[in-house]
Amino acid sequence: MKPTTPPKTYRVKSFGCQMNVYDGERMAELLAAQGIAPAPEGEDADLVVLNTCHIREKAAEKVYSDIGRISKAGAASGKQPLIAVAGCVAQAEGEEIMARAPAVSIVVGPQAYHRLPEMLDRAVAGESATDTDMPPIAKFDALPDRRKIGPSAFLTIQEGCDKFCTYCVVPYTRGAEISRPFRDLVTEARKLVDAGAREITLLGQNVSAWSGENEKGHRIGLAGLVRTLAETDGLARIRYTTSHPADMDEDIIAAHGDTPKLMPYLHLPVQSGSDRVLKAMNRSHTAESYLELLERFRAARPDLALSGDFIVGFPGETDAEFEETLRLVDTVGYAQAFSFKYSPRPGTPAATMDDQIAKEVMDERLQRLQAALNRDQFAFNKASVGRTCQVLVERRGKHPGQWLGKSPWLQSVWFEGDYAIGDLVDVELVEAGPNSLAGRILQRVAA
Ligand code: 5AD
Ligand code: SF4
Repeated sequence: MKPTTPPKTYRVKSFGCQMNVYDGERMAELLAAQGIAPAPEGEDADLVVLNTCHIREKAAEKVYSDIGRISKAGAASGKQPLIAVAGCVAQAEGEEIMARAPAVSIVVGPQAYHRLPEMLDRAVAGESATDTDMPPIAKFDALPDRRKIGPSAFLTIQEGCDKFCTYCVVPYTRGAEISRPFRDLVTEARKLVDAGAREITLLGQNVSAWSGENEKGHRIGLAGLVRTLAETDGLARIRYTTSHPADMDEDIIAAHGDTPKLMPYLHLPVQSGSDRVLKAMNRSHTAESYLELLERFRAARPDLALSGDFIVGFPGETDAEFEETLRLVDTVGYAQAFSFKYSPRPGTPAATMDDQIAKEVMDERLQRLQAALNRDQFAFNKASVGRTCQVLVERRGKHPGQWLGKSPWLQSVWFEGDYAIGDLVDVELVEAGPNSLAGRILQRVAA
């Protein structure tokens, strides 16, 4: 039986990318504005929102196992929660979810979640509610103000993607590229800082395609936006993710050299080191043009930490082509990276290409690639020992007096002392691990 009383408590579970984390926070704010409270830790919620990811098959399948687990627990306790499926699986498989998982009451796509309160009313009245419309940007105007948040906050500046990489579902699930207006972003950044943020990460599937009109009516791009936001009093750090090599212009390269609040970290997915594979992926860059671009960024900001995304086992990828990816990794020396086995996504051109690669081959390639990436990440951390830098205190550690924060290069840093979340402290990096560093406090920096 699906519940028919209005929910008093909610839980939002977000999977996948940071865009989903942002959407999850906004849905939580929307539900809180309706008088629904977050379910206390460890207690069942009356409403569970599964904010899903469709980028790879594993991520998409997780939704169905989660729904099964939640309704089984509900049956055992005699209290079925209302289940809403949001995010990219909702967008891509709306009707299919309702058919395959009868326990679900609401299916809402990433561009329609501002209508969640009306959908809840319908669900409580016993109707199933599906909304996978893609109205451009309407949701942002319909959402409530930002509430108290942590020191590091996300701000979605752009959604959707026009690049149509042949393996990727994003252009279908998130739709065409849309930039949020300049003025709205300046206002939201101010509100985030007023609510406690010291660092803002500008988000989008392709933030480098952001464009807008500034207060003088001039057309500006991502760099112009970064420079304006850097003037926000109380904001200490700006980051952005994700960008596409084809859209990175001189201005954003220069901003890394001349805007101190823009952190020395660049996540620039390459996907493969083979020009033939890159062409088949419709990536519009070559290994060489990518490396040249990185050199220009490094010239502007020599201490820049680099990060990237990789796919192994794209259809037709030969051993020699995979070796080219390993060579590119060796050349770049990434500080951090994300790597995945190719996963055929229904409706994308690569899903029907010849020469799909066997699972065992993909497993082996991923293992080798990740070994190289882990080695480089550890090397980057080891090379950081002896550096002094500012760390933004984000949360308490496991032990009393221990804190965890992020270095400018997005490394996790542990240290001890008497601090508060949101403090910026000067730290000397004294010891490196594969995934984090230990720091010794020099002094707290004035806000
Ligand atoms: N299979 C595997 N990885 C994928 N990505 C996107 N689509 C797929 C797919 N079909 C990866 C890319 C992208 C990151 C967000 O996810 O590396 O940059
Ligand atoms: Fe997907 Fe990124 Fe390519 Fe856009 S640029 S299609 S989001 S992989």
